[in-house]
Amino acid sequence: MESNASAPGKVILFGEHFVVYGVKAILCAINKRVIVRAEKIKEKKIYIKSNIGDLILEPNKPISEIDSPLKPFYYLANKLLQTQNQTTGIKIIVESDIPIGVGLGSSSACCVAGAAAISGLFVKTSKEEILKLAISAEKTIFQNTSGADCTVCTFGGIMEYDKKNGFTKIKSEPDFHLVIANSNVKHSTETVVAKVKQFKEENEIRFSSLCNDESKLVEDVLKLLSDNNIKELGQKIIQNQEYLETIGVSNKKLRDMIQVGQKSSFGAKITGAGGGGCIFALTDESNLEYSIKQFKDKNYECFSVKIDFKGLDTF
Ligand code: MEV
Repeated sequence: MESNASAPGKVILFGEHFVVYGVKAILCAINKRVIVRAEKIKEKKIYIKSNIGDLILEPNKPISEIDSPLKPFYYLANKLLQTQNQTTGIKIIVESDIPIGVGLGSSSACCVAGAAAISGLFVKTSKEEILKLAISAEKTIFQNTSGADCTVCTFGGIMEYDKKNGFTKIKSEPDFHLVIANSNVKHSTETVVAKVKQFKEENEIRFSSLCNDESKLVEDVLKLLSDNNIKELGQKIIQNQEYLETIGVSNKKLRDMIQVGQKSSFGAKITGAGGGGCIFALTDESNLEYSIKQFKDKNYECFSVKIDFKGLDTF
């Protein structure tokens, strides 16, 4: 018997970094997916095959002893073999079209699709339960995850999130395209977050005023999203990028990419931690192809995405 699941990646549209200090952020799922196929096997092994390598281990190894980016899959398979009292093994095949390690939610999508595919071998599980399992798997790699990424990968669409109130799905379904350009510079979220903390400590008043500005901007964005006002949303993206520049998470390469995006679309900004990773440019049908061409002409790796409203899918 085979159990299959897929889950989307994500971008942070507004509010990265400021969210760490209590400001609301807005995230959306994107139509790039991870597909996970799970199968029970007679052999007492957990066998994981992916385009970044394979991991083959016996069950019941301590998770702290496993040094592999595929660790969350092992954790999930082992946990389900244990809770379901199984003495057999599991084979897992992972296919992904989400670039890895550049802030597009690849690891969260793996955890969500992995939790659904593996638990589907044994029991029917609600999306809420899958999400809990996925977050526990993600914690094997990022102990301090807020859970925001796994949530948007599970439920799809657009979501607002703040530390105090958690997640609320935004009902509007705006019809925009994002052109994502990849700097191909791997970044450590932890390092960039620490740099912002230092900026905050050295500029308390300035930082607090930026947090207020970002909160106000996000409230304006929520209205613009419900009106599908893409041009004004672009202005808010440009404004948000200025705040990110001020706190020092941009660099020359990202600025060059953002300039291409801002000249060819309604607005462009960093998505995620910055320091590397990706930027996005907001477009609709009128400027999508033009924007892609501008990035490609300057040899930047780019692709377009739309919002994914489906979230986790099992089949
Ligand atoms: C990273 O994708 C987003 C940050 O806001 C960090 C976080 O929210 O944990 C930079």
